[in-house]
Amino acid sequence: MRKQIAAGNWKMNLLADEAYALARRIEKYAITNTIGTGREIILAPPAPYLETIADIMHFSPQISVAAQNCSEHLSGAYTGEVSAGMLKSIGVKYVIIGHSERRQYHGEDHSTLRKKVERVIKNEMRPIFCCGEPEEIRRKAEHKAYVSNQLEESLLCFTADEVRTCVIAYEPVWAIGTGQTATSKQAQEMHHFIRSLIAEHYSEDVADDISILYGGSCNPGNAQELFSNKDVDGGLIGGASLKADQFIEIIQALT
Ligand code: PGA
Repeated sequence: MRKQIAAGNWKMNLLADEAYALARRIEKYAITNTIGTGREIILAPPAPYLETIADIMHFSPQISVAAQNCSEHLSGAYTGEVSAGMLKSIGVKYVIIGHSERRQYHGEDHSTLRKKVERVIKNEMRPIFCCGEPEEIRRKAEHKAYVSNQLEESLLCFTADEVRTCVIAYEPVWAIGTGQTATSKQAQEMHHFIRSLIAEHYSEDVADDISILYGGSCNPGNAQELFSNKDVDGGLIGGASLKADQFIEIIQALT
């Protein structure tokens, strides 16, 4: 059965002391409160803090650490890059792949993202695969075709067993960091569409197993309503994950 997940994407924020303090607050919350086996907290700090935060979380099975990116290459002369194998070796469990900021500012295309997904799966970590349409596509009512193409090109080419290991995050680009959240109805409609697409490609079983997170200006004020939808299995949270109190309220909104 799929899990309900609150994942914090810290992006390029926080200095080391701030990052470790935030991680410790979340860890303390998880120790003193019952999270429940059907729920999971994921923290995606900037790369330099991954190993320390993975160590902090070592005894908290309900908190996993995610990297925000990895290289599509195996190893070698790729200055500045971090391989999936390196992430695995320091205790990282998930890797965010295909965030719209990586697609937009780093030119990551479908084929690069497919290779990254493959590296993550081969290293026995789990991709958090992001998809979502820009505003002009939504205005033209082409969002379903757009998202289905993103998924088909980079994710739905893997086997059923491989896809089962993935988490999908639906993040409409117009909602990311803008304060303009998708309505509960818009989120449910897209999540249901994504789940149907997986069922069509594989089976209902596989589709039922995959957590589909909503991302884009999710906050303590709207999390409960968004998460109450049948096909919304939690959120990928940017801004609101940088404040412990807000992120904890979002964790509490998981169904
Ligand atoms: P936001 O970011 O919550 O700040 O909109 C979400 C994301 O980019 O993952």
